[in-house]
Amino acid sequence: MGFARTCSVALVGVEGVVVEVQADLEPGVAAFTLVGLPDKSLTESRDRVRAAVVNSGTAWPSKKLTVGLSPASVPKAGSGFDLAVACAVLGAAERIDPRVLSDIVMIGELGLDGRVRPVRGTLPAVLAAADAGYEQVVVPECAATEAALVPNVSVLGVRSLRQLIAILADEPVPHEEPDEPGRPDPLLAGLRMPGSGAATGMHGAPAAQQDQGHDLADVVGQLSARTAVEVAAAGGHHLFLEGPPGAGKTMLAERLPAVLPRLTREESLEVTAVHSVAGLLPPGKPLVDAAPYCAPHHSATMQALVGGGPGMARPGAVSLSHRGVLFLDETPEFTTRALDALRQPLEAGHVVIARSAGVVRFPAKFLMVLAANPCPCGRFSLADDFCECPPSAVRRYQARLSGPLLDRVDLRVQVDRVTRAQLAERGVRGESTAMVADRVRSARERAALRLAGSPWRTNSQVPGRELRSRWHAVPGAMDEAEHNLERGVTTRATATS
Ligand SMILES: Nc1ncnc2c1ncn2[C@@H]1O[C@H](COP(=O)(O)OP(=O)(O)O)[C@@H](O)[C@H]1O
Ligand SMILES: [Mg+2]
Ligand SMILES: [Zn+2]
Repeated sequence: MGFARTCSVALVGVEGVVVEVQADLEPGVAAFTLVGLPDKSLTESRDRVRAAVVNSGTAWPSKKLTVGLSPASVPKAGSGFDLAVACAVLGAAERIDPRVLSDIVMIGELGLDGRVRPVRGTLPAVLAAADAGYEQVVVPECAATEAALVPNVSVLGVRSLRQLIAILADEPVPHEEPDEPGRPDPLLAGLRMPGSGAATGMHGAPAAQQDQGHDLADVVGQLSARTAVEVAAAGGHHLFLEGPPGAGKTMLAERLPAVLPRLTREESLEVTAVHSVAGLLPPGKPLVDAAPYCAPHHSATMQALVGGGPGMARPGAVSLSHRGVLFLDETPEFTTRALDALRQPLEAGHVVIARSAGVVRFPAKFLMVLAANPCPCGRFSLADDFCECPPSAVRRYQARLSGPLLDRVDLRVQVDRVTRAQLAERGVRGESTAMVADRVRSARERAALRLAGSPWRTNSQVPGRELRSRWHAVPGAMDEAEHNLERGVTTRATATS
């Protein structure tokens, strides 16, 4: 009797698969069956779609209606299929000409009132549509700038199903009020992003965008730690900052992302896709083009740290810091389980999250910065303060950081408090972020030249064996390090790249 089809996108991690949505109307007892939808949220979709259609002033077909999403084998989660389901139904009912629907990809959740609401992952969904050769996508209006980052796709942003019906049926488009700003997202509580100091939400803080106002010029003294930050950025080395509270460890870590090179277009899209699936892109500035920074609290859940959650899996801190900086303040306070979970991303550059419907993979290549106090109370080894921790507690605290995690860290620096006199002398400003970033950029260029023809791009990626045989340090550069190694002393960071 009536048949129509249109398309949407299913996301698995940050990978999208175009899904065909077919609607079929047959005479018979009024019924609405959805097939190909293993996820519970899709059953709910049925009720939302029906209410949205009716509340858009359109009759719901009172016949036997079957809607199928294929391929059935693709795990489908989330609410982003609503818009496509509604339009396929209206195509089968001939409220919309089925011919205009078949080549369009539609992404969006429907409210019961018929408003089109944003879903996580618009960018990767539109990328997948473009890759599959589709040229037209419909998205919620507030996600249109994000969708428009994808080249060669024409994007239509709509506020309501009513508007979309009118556009597709070539009728006058009704006015709708714009959306009110979204609510904070409780699942991300415990994740701290720069500039927020608190949990961030769908439209919250400038999550992981560039943190203006954090300049290295603000850091008084700390020459060796500043050098370590620069070397970490230049060579892509993980960094361990060790020192008492108030020494400036957090301050230094926060200033590392801005020293890293800006992301290339390709990297930007990759990083933005992850933040899109997390629902953390601020509207109006959808492209993450600077190295992100993510500083999960040590009490953060495993889910907040590595990703997961019900329905469509969310990326965790390790992925939100992809191509940027993951800062673990007070690292020894993290649970062993949390620290162990970092091993996979550190080794593989991605995390794999097991789900009932299969596995989800998120990219997770980050520069890790660890910070630790010398002991639980933080006063150990300070001349002017007294540590109250029993020696066994100090040992246990320091031992938490031994092993596989520290093996990955190339740079370990002692950060001592600057004196009050030094702080008072603020007239003498250190080098600015811009100056250091400049040197980092040219160091990276030199490294790329040096490593041309090899599988590596930065010094940290080159195995030690290769370093010793093919890229010797200049004569004398290793003397101090070797001398200290013999004496068992931690070496001060020295820039050699
Ligand atoms: N070297 C420094 N230069 C300027 N301010 C500093 C310095 N070290 C510490 N501070 C001040 O002390 C505060 C605490 O530093 P913070 O980075 O939080 O220390 P830590 O993380 O080591 O406990 C900073 O916000 C800053 O105001
Ligand atoms: Mg701190
Ligand atoms: Zn102590």
